[in-house]
Amino acid sequence: MHGSHPSEMRSLQAPLGFFSPEAVSADEERAGMLRAATLGDPDDPDSLDYHQCELFDLSSVQQSTPNLDTDLDTRGFDTIDLGPLSDMQALLESVRSAGEISAEDARSLRRGLTGRVFRLNGGKCLRLLSIAPEGLIMRKSGPNDLKPDPDVEMGEMNGHGAARAIHGDQDVRGTPLKQLMRGNAPWLFRHQTPDGSNRWSPLMLVNLWIPLDQVTRPLTLMDRSSLDARRHQLRYALPTDAFLDRDADMKVNDIWTFLHHSGQRWYFHSELDARRAYVFDTLGTPHGAVILPGEDVVESYYTQLREVAAAVQQGEMQVATERAGAAGPAVLEGSTPALERALASLQTLLREAADGFAAGTEDWLRRVDAACDRLIRKSIEMRVVALLLPDCWPFNRAVASPD
Ligand SMILES: [Fe+2]
Repeated sequence: MHGSHPSEMRSLQAPLGFFSPEAVSADEERAGMLRAATLGDPDDPDSLDYHQCELFDLSSVQQSTPNLDTDLDTRGFDTIDLGPLSDMQALLESVRSAGEISAEDARSLRRGLTGRVFRLNGGKCLRLLSIAPEGLIMRKSGPNDLKPDPDVEMGEMNGHGAARAIHGDQDVRGTPLKQLMRGNAPWLFRHQTPDGSNRWSPLMLVNLWIPLDQVTRPLTLMDRSSLDARRHQLRYALPTDAFLDRDADMKVNDIWTFLHHSGQRWYFHSELDARRAYVFDTLGTPHGAVILPGEDVVESYYTQLREVAAAVQQGEMQVATERAGAAGPAVLEGSTPALERALASLQTLLREAADGFAAGTEDWLRRVDAACDRLIRKSIEMRVVALLLPDCWPFNRAVASPD
């Protein structure tokens, strides 16, 4: 069943990276399934099969709009309101401004979220029972996939870029769930998998995905009721050596990749911040980080502004003024209001520099840092064992309210 879109919902066109159909074969282990060959880095843009897709912007309509196409169970994703949790908001803002997450931050996040109940838009509640010890990470990426800190190595929680390839995070019958739960995961968890679903269990494995800044590289998610799973969902073994220290039988993550089809429907939020987080089904909801139209333009102004700032810091004022006056690319078309506002603030700062820093260089440098930082996409994600409950007493009595 397809929900009709509210007529005022905006959309844009952007390329999404799918798995290439040439490297797909019938699965020899599980009848009727398809397998994607493991070929080097799954996020290598050269190996992806790009398709221009229409992305519907959920921020362009009210959250209370009927027929809003978010529902954790049927569509595979939804959002929850973290706004009322003031301690949590303060913690997320400190992680955002630090640009990295510490072990102490992660502990506080786990403590603050475990046991909480959140109301879903789709008319149910979600109780967060337990946050997985592995997989709490922070991701960062600059406009147009620019590397914000090229020298930082990927560790367990930090140094992760945005995921370019469209994927699903975990096969309920695969590693490491198979080993960790001794094969019981398909019976315990609610899931929709091409070779057998579990639609009666209220227990779910969900990703909680908290945006800190996502003017660039926003997360995009597929409405899974628009997915033909038997034809387009592929088993994929992802090597984990680069970021996890695991036993020999668990050196891969069995995840999902996807083939493109024109019937698939995609969504994103252009204005999401840490007050509202995505929850989506870890066991299959297709998602990835999109590069929005116009990010290449923003990247070029960002780089120019950084060069001007470096010259100012070295006291080379003439170099700075000349560099600031150089014309950049002119247009930004088919993008989001947030990206347009961000671009305007970069252009204002460049103009002030070209005109000779009327407000003084110290204040100017501070504003450059703030404006550029907002263009670095930052997000925190974690895996949560959660209970899907009816939105009625007594299940909803602990729904998140102000601290
Ligand atoms: Fe993911």
